[in-house]
Amino acid sequence: MTITIKNGAEIEGMRIAGRIAAETLDFITPFIQAEVSTGEINDRCHEYILSRGCISATLGYRGFPKSVCTSVNDVVCHGIPSYEVILREGDIINVDVTVIKEGFFGDTSRMYFIGKCSEKAVHLVERTKKAMMRGIEAVKPHVHLNEIGKAIEEYIEKFSYGIVREYTGHGIGRHFHEDPHVFHYDTRNSGPRLEPGMIFTIEPMINMSPEWETFVDKEDKWTVRTKDGALSAQWEHTILVTETGYEILTLSPQEGK
Ligand code: MF3
Ligand code: CO
Ligand code: CO
Repeated sequence: MTITIKNGAEIEGMRIAGRIAAETLDFITPFIQAEVSTGEINDRCHEYILSRGCISATLGYRGFPKSVCTSVNDVVCHGIPSYEVILREGDIINVDVTVIKEGFFGDTSRMYFIGKCSEKAVHLVERTKKAMMRGIEAVKPHVHLNEIGKAIEEYIEKFSYGIVREYTGHGIGRHFHEDPHVFHYDTRNSGPRLEPGMIFTIEPMINMSPEWETFVDKEDKWTVRTKDGALSAQWEHTILVTETGYEILTLSPQEGK
């Protein structure tokens, strides 16, 4: 496993790509409403990404047919936008954007509520965001990679939720998916040490039931669903390891953090 250490110019390129990915989510936020299709969300994001001088990393990636992933309710990740999937009051949705700007990849996703959602759904979404933040806060130079998964698991443990294991965060840079795999649970294996200049995503997927297993849609070969039909939530940021801790490369000014 080779984890690349990014130099100053590469880090600057990654900051720009990360910022644009976050701003794509800011841009799409007001359009994510009941009666809108995920196909329309995709098309608006696609145009926005081009308008920022970027291309979508997902369009054509291993045959993925769209410019963003839209994962509704029991869809864990890799949902394919469609004009036939129409958002309804009470749904939860993840929109996952990855852009390429001058060869650098920025990858981030957020959850959205469609109108009024059940209290259980609201808790799942908020706790999943908190789990991501716990993982991010564990990032510092010289600690082992497994500290991230441990921090997430330690927080999630008190709810009877399932942490998805088949999909992980990943190194990112001039490629979409680089080493290392970033697990969102305690693997009981310390893993490599983090060093300044490493860049990877943290993107926990948390299921409303203790069942963490998933399956991939047989027809479209992409859509990942919870095995038992439970709701699933995910948040994602791209993170740089700094001399003192971390920098979130996919924060937008609008997020105010
Ligand atoms: N953005 C996803 C990730 O966080 C990957 C999507 S790949 C696709 O790693 F092909 F499904 F778009
Ligand atoms: Co990712
Ligand atoms: Co992503």
